[in-house]
Order: sequence, then structure tokens, then C-alpha cells
Amino acid sequence: MLKIVVLVSGGGTNLQAIIDSMKDGRITNAEITAVISNNAGAYALKRAEEAGIRALCISPKQFETRALFNEALLETIKDMTPDLIVLAGFMVVIPPEMIRAFPNKIINIHPSLIPAFCGTGYYGLRVHEAALARGVKISGATVHFVDEGTDTGPIILQKPVAVQEGDTPEVLQKRIMQEAEWQIMPKAIDLIAHGKVHVEDGKVRIDD
Ligand code: GAR
Repeated sequence: MLKIVVLVSGGGTNLQAIIDSMKDGRITNAEITAVISNNAGAYALKRAEEAGIRALCISPKQFETRALFNEALLETIKDMTPDLIVLAGFMVVIPPEMIRAFPNKIINIHPSLIPAFCGTGYYGLRVHEAALARGVKISGATVHFVDEGTDTGPIILQKPVAVQEGDTPEVLQKRIMQEAEWQIMPKAIDLIAHGKVHVEDGKVRIDD
């Protein structure tokens, strides 16, 4: 059974998609052992509590320096001995020490087709603002492993979503969540839980 710790910052709709997928059998052989937020007011924490999952907040505000926050986050997660760490809308830069402690064991959902509209400064609504400003006809979402770069790790799954005339960033964000994120994140977790995802030469190979 794959032990998962989910890190969140906001609304937690991706967390909810994972919880729902575990209930309806789209994800098997996996369990969420804890949900951690950097933000005490994150609705995602309520979603975790409602699902009976341990929910805790570790905020940079509780620490004098960023280094102390990073250390506390890493030690807390290490104590939980997860097999997989899922970044589900976690708006905190993951320190290199954590990436080294969990190589190819951290995955992230990004709301575009990487390498478009990703990297430093591209998160949340900003991604969709940039996509609309560029006038792309197709956007989408990507689940990838986290390495020491920003959105540069091996890509696990991607799903395209059409941009429509008159889309606002909010409308496009919602469509990409519904049609892509809430599907590919649970799917990636299920594949990992069944040992089907392999990283070779910086790329992902998925067993049939
Ligand atoms: C999602 O759209 C996710 O792709 C994005 O934040 C949102 C979180 O929503 N993540 C990033 O932009 C990461 N760079 P949620 O809290 O409702 O799951």
C-alpha cells in the first residue's frame, strides 16, 4: 500500500479528486496518511478533516527564517515515511534538501502543457492569464516528478484542453481542472501505486 502525504495551499480540489478516486476505486493500493498546508486557512485542510485524514499546518510564519521552516517541513514529512509526496496546489518552493531526500518520490500538478507557461512565476491563475495573453488554442495540465528546477522534472501524464472564445483566466482554469487535472492526477497516483511508472534517462516510461 503506497503511503502518500499531500501538500496543499488553497482550495484543495485536486486533493478532493484524489480522495474521491480512492473511494470510487479509480485509485487502489494507496492511502493518504496526512495532508500538510503552509496556510492555516486553506480549505483543503477542511476537506482532509472531513475525509478523516490527519491534517496539519506548517507555516513559514511560525519560524524565524525560511531555513527553519524548510527544516521543520522536511523533518515532519520524513517522520511520516511516505512512499510518495503529492504537491496538489502547493505554492511553496520545495527546498533542494527535500528533493534529495525523496528522489522521484515527489509529484506535482501544473495547469499547462509543460514546457509552455511554466517555471518561476507561473502558478495558479497566472498560468492561464499568460496562456490567454499568448492566444494559444490549446492548453491543459501536466503531472510531473519534481526535480531541483521549477517544473523541469520528468513528465508523467499530460492532457490537452481547448481554449474557447471569450475565456477568462478563471473560466479556463476551471475547465482545465475539470477536464484534465482532476483526471490525470488520480491516474498518475494509481499508476505509481501499481509500480508502473519508471524514470529512465530523465524521462518517464509507463508499463502497459
Ligand atoms: C491547480 O490549478 C494546480 O494546477 C495549480 O494550483 C491549483 C490548485 O488548486 N498549481 C500550480 O499552479 C503549481 N505551479 P486546488 O487547490 O483546488 O487543487
